[in-house]
Amino acid sequence: MKCFLISLCILLCFQQGVKSKNVSDSDLQLASIPPRGWNSYDSFSWTISEQEFLQSAEIVSQRLHDHGYEYVVVDYLWYRRKVEGAYHDSLGFDVIDEWGRMIPDPGRWPSSQDGKGFSEVANGVHSMGLKFGIHVMRGISTQAVNANTPILDTATGGAYQESGRVWRAKDIAIRERACAWMPHGFMSVDIKLGAGKAFLRSLYEQYAAWGVDFVKHDCVFGDDLDLNEISYVSEVLRELDRAIVYSLSPGTSVTPAMAKDVSGLVNLYRITGDDWDTWGDVKAHFDVSRDFATANMIGAKSLMGNSWPDLDMLPFGWLTDPGSNEGPHRYSNLHLEEKKTQMTLWAMAKSPLMYGGDVRKIDPTTYDLITNPIILEINSFSTNNMEFPYISSLNSEDQDSGRQMRRSYREIKTSYTHSLSLTSCTESNANGWTSESLNQNLERICWKRNFGYKHLAPLCLHKRELNFISDEENVYQDYHQGKYHLVAVDRIKFCLDASPKRKLTSKEFERGTFSPCRWDSNQMWQLNLNGTLVNSYSGLCATVKPVKATINSAGFRSWVATGRTGEIYVAFFNLSDQKAVISAQTSDIAKVFLGRDLSACKGSEVWSGSDIEITQGTLSAEVEMHGTALFVLNCHLVWSPQKSSM
Ligand SMILES: *[C@@H]1O[C@H](CO)[C@@H](O)[C@H](O)[C@H]1NC(C)=O
Ligand SMILES: *[C@@H]1O[C@H](CO)[C@@H](O)[C@H](O)[C@H]1NC(C)=O
Ligand SMILES: *[C@@H]1O[C@H](CO)[C@@H](O)[C@H](O)[C@H]1NC(C)=O
Repeated sequence: MKCFLISLCILLCFQQGVKSKNVSDSDLQLASIPPRGWNSYDSFSWTISEQEFLQSAEIVSQRLHDHGYEYVVVDYLWYRRKVEGAYHDSLGFDVIDEWGRMIPDPGRWPSSQDGKGFSEVANGVHSMGLKFGIHVMRGISTQAVNANTPILDTATGGAYQESGRVWRAKDIAIRERACAWMPHGFMSVDIKLGAGKAFLRSLYEQYAAWGVDFVKHDCVFGDDLDLNEISYVSEVLRELDRAIVYSLSPGTSVTPAMAKDVSGLVNLYRITGDDWDTWGDVKAHFDVSRDFATANMIGAKSLMGNSWPDLDMLPFGWLTDPGSNEGPHRYSNLHLEEKKTQMTLWAMAKSPLMYGGDVRKIDPTTYDLITNPIILEINSFSTNNMEFPYISSLNSEDQDSGRQMRRSYREIKTSYTHSLSLTSCTESNANGWTSESLNQNLERICWKRNFGYKHLAPLCLHKRELNFISDEENVYQDYHQGKYHLVAVDRIKFCLDASPKRKLTSKEFERGTFSPCRWDSNQMWQLNLNGTLVNSYSGLCATVKPVKATINSAGFRSWVATGRTGEIYVAFFNLSDQKAVISAQTSDIAKVFLGRDLSACKGSEVWSGSDIEITQGTLSAEVEMHGTALFVLNCHLVWSPQKSSM
C-alpha cells in the first residue's frame, strides 16, 4: 500500500496548492477519468473535410457515446488548403487571418466562411451530445512570420503595442526553434516578450470562442519540449471561462522526470512517439507504461483536474498512412490478438482511449473490441495499476524434459549496452559528461558514469566546432557560440541528433540517433561546467544508461490492478517468439495487494469468456503469440486488521 499512501499525499499536497490559485470549480472536474473519443489522424491524416468529420461525429454519438467515447478531435493541418503541391510539410498553403492565426480552410470547412472559424462545427458536435477537439501546433506558422502579420491584443481588439510601436510576427518568432518534424510549418514564439504572450493568448481565446472543448498541442513535448509555451498556454486556459482539456504531443523519449514538469499543467501527455498498426509499436509501449505507473503518474492531480500518460490512438479498422494526402484506404495490419493486447495494456495503464480508424466503416469485431465493457471499466475505474514482475514461463523444451523453470524476466542475465536519451537538465542523472583532450586538435566528450556495469567501455563522442558557412545569416553565429557537433567516432560524417526530421513512430525511435551532420539546432550541443550536455533545440540534456542488449528476456509481461468493487484484474501478455505457458503464484499477487487473501478466488478470462480455476495457488494460461489473457478475480474480501482503515 506504499503507492497508495504516496498518491494520497500527492493528492493532498496538490489540493493545498490549488487553494492559492484562482481555479474555478469546473476546472477541477477536467479529465477526472481518462478521456475517450475519436481522432481523425489515423484514418484521414490531415485531409478530412467538414462533411466527413460531421458524419464521423454522428456515428460516434450514435454508437460509441454510450460507451464513454465523448470527444471528437480534428487532427493536424485543418487550415491547409488541399490543393496540388500541399502536403504535411509544405509552405504557403495555409489559411491565416489578419493576425497571423490559423483558420479552417474554407474549401474543406465551408461553415467557417465569414470569420466563423470552427463555431458551426462545434455547435453541430455539441448538438450531438459530444465534445469538440482540435489539434494545434507549437508557436506561430512560418507563413504568418513571412507575412509579418501584426499581433492581436485581445484586451483592446487592436494591434498589440508596447514601447510605442506595433509588434509583429517577426518580433516574436524564434526561427532557431522550428518544429523538428515540420520545419517549414511552425516555430516557437518568445514568451518572455509581452507580444509573444499576447499572440498565444489570442489563439486560445479564439479556440474558446469557437466552442472548442479539447486542445491537442503538438510539437511541444518529448524531444520537442517547449516548457515555456506549455506553461503559458496552461495559464491562459485556466483563466478562460470555458473548460478546455489540455493534451500534449508527441511523446518521443519522454521520461517520468520530464512528465513531472508538466503533469500539473495539463490533462493528457503522450509518452511515446506515434503509434501505428505494427506489432513493434504495440510492444514499444510496455516498458514506458510500466515506468509511468511506477512513478505514480497515472491520474496524478493537476491544477486543471487530473492528468493521464497517453499511449496514443487505437489504429484499428480502416486507416491511412502517416503523413499521407489520402483518406482511409487500407485495413489495419494488426492481428486480432495484437489488438486485444493493445486494448488490454491501454486499459490496465489507464491510457486515454482515442479510436483512430474510420468510424463510418467500423467492423463488428473492432466495435466489440473497443466497447468491451470490462476493458472500459478497467480503463475508467481501476486503481493500483502496475506491472507485476513475478511471473514465470515454462517453455517447450522445459516442458519436454519435465523441468519447471520459474523465473522472473528481471532476473534473466543479459549483456548490457548504452542507451542515450534526453532528460531535464536539472535531473541528477544528466550530469556525467566530461571533456578530454586527445591531442591539440582533438577533444572528446565522454559519459563517465557506468556505476555497477564495470565491463562497459565509456561512451565517447568527438567534439567538433561548428563550421559556419558564409551564406548563413550572421545573426545565428552569436547564438551558437560555445556549441558544437558531436561526431560518431566510427562514422565521421554523422552527428549526434536529438531528433530526426520527421514525426517518429515509437518503433523507429532509436535512442541516440546519428544523422548526417547538418546546420541544425537538434545537432548542437553545449557542455556545462556541472557535466550536463544540453541540446540547443529542446534545451534538454543527454543522459546515458546501460540497457539490456537483448530483448527476448522481456517476452512475458503481466499487469495487475484492483476494481471498484474489490475485484482483482490480472493480465498476462505474450510478447515473445518462444513457446511458453505464463503463470503467477497467487501468493505473489497477494503481496502487491497487501492484506488480500487470494486463496479462494473465482473468476473468468475476459477475451474468451471462460471461467477459470486456480489450482494449487497458481494462475496460469496459454497465451497466443502477441496475445493476452485478462483475468477478473473475485476473491473473499479478507483485510488484515491494521490495513482495514484503507
Ligand atoms: C487569476 O489570477 C491571475 C493572477 O493571479 C489574474 O491575472 C486573473 O485575472 C485571475 N483570473 C480570474 C478568472 O480570476
Ligand atoms: C547544470 O548547470 C546548468 C546550467 O548552469 C543548469 O541549468 C542545470 O540545472 C545544472 N544541472 C545539474 C544537474 O546540476
Ligand atoms: C507465445 O507466442 C509464441 C509465438 O510468438 C507462440 O508460439 C506461443 O505459443 C505463445 N505462448 C503461449 C504460452 O501460448
